[in-house]
Amino acid sequence: MITDIDELKSKILGELESIKDSSQLENLRIKYLGRKGLIANLFEEMKSIKAAEKPIFGKKINELKQIVTKIVEEKELFFSSSRKKTEAFIDPTIPGRKKHLGSIHPLVQTVEDIKKIFLKMGFDVAEGPEIESDYYNFGALNFPDDHPARDMQDTFFISKEILLRTHTSPVQIRVMEKQKPPLRVIMPGRVYRNEAVSARSYCLFNQVEGILVDKHVTFAELKGTLVSFAKQYFGSNLKYRFRPSFFPFTEPSAEMDITCFVCGGKGCKICKYTSWLEVLGCGMIDPNVFKSVNYDPEEVTGYAFGMGIDRMALLKYNIDDIRIFYDNDIRFLKQF
Ligand code: DAH
Repeated sequence: MITDIDELKSKILGELESIKDSSQLENLRIKYLGRKGLIANLFEEMKSIKAAEKPIFGKKINELKQIVTKIVEEKELFFSSSRKKTEAFIDPTIPGRKKHLGSIHPLVQTVEDIKKIFLKMGFDVAEGPEIESDYYNFGALNFPDDHPARDMQDTFFISKEILLRTHTSPVQIRVMEKQKPPLRVIMPGRVYRNEAVSARSYCLFNQVEGILVDKHVTFAELKGTLVSFAKQYFGSNLKYRFRPSFFPFTEPSAEMDITCFVCGGKGCKICKYTSWLEVLGCGMIDPNVFKSVNYDPEEVTGYAFGMGIDRMALLKYNIDDIRIFYDNDIRFLKQF
């Protein structure tokens, strides 16, 4: 009798394994676990066995009943939950919804890129105020009293002496007043000009100023630094040229052009069919500027340069309207 139960157990487990749906399961449940099922019958048979064997036999039947009940319950759960799955189908392969994290403004990105290059070349970074005095913006930079830039048409004056800086060059003066040479500093920031707003110019924009002051600094070093910068920023196979120019605070002064990387020098709208792009102004710091910060022009020399960040960004990202940088249109900003 006892081995019969073991056999029965493996038979039931075998049948349970091949069950395919809930109706087969229900039939099996009735056959074995039902009130008149096989397992109930075993309890009946117990009456006819020897008293000594009863406890072992009873224990075995109970174990069998427990195991079969447990498996039947598990299978019931499985079939009912898989039925629910087909009713409300969730497709785990559908891609999730993307959260837009915001992005860095292209002008900020451009300043960061420019800073990185000059930091590698050993320059420090300094900043100065956007509201300036006439002295720092013009006087200390060797602008004569009747210079056209001092005109109301170009400069936003707050009072006779106070204005919104028209360039980042006044930060040169502030840095040199505070520190003694040798120094190597770049000075990024916002500047303001009272100009008609158009695709090419806006009432505010950004510049990076740079100076290097030491003994025996030469124009060749200025060129070397700026060419190295331009190659790192715009690409190593660019061509460049320096044209003589004029700024009150540098002597001699120059402007740097690079070959148009949009058309490769063939001529296009961006370079106005000249094949050259003007990227910055530069020169050797004028002795009068050194005098205004109490440096001895017989002792030290230095160079300075200034470039428009907006212009760099327009060129690099091939954008044809400067105003778009200040509109805060999400559709534009999202692209960066
Ligand atoms: N301050 C000039 C401007 O706003 C740019 C500039 C030119 C800066 C030559 C310099 C320089 O330091 O040497 O147009």
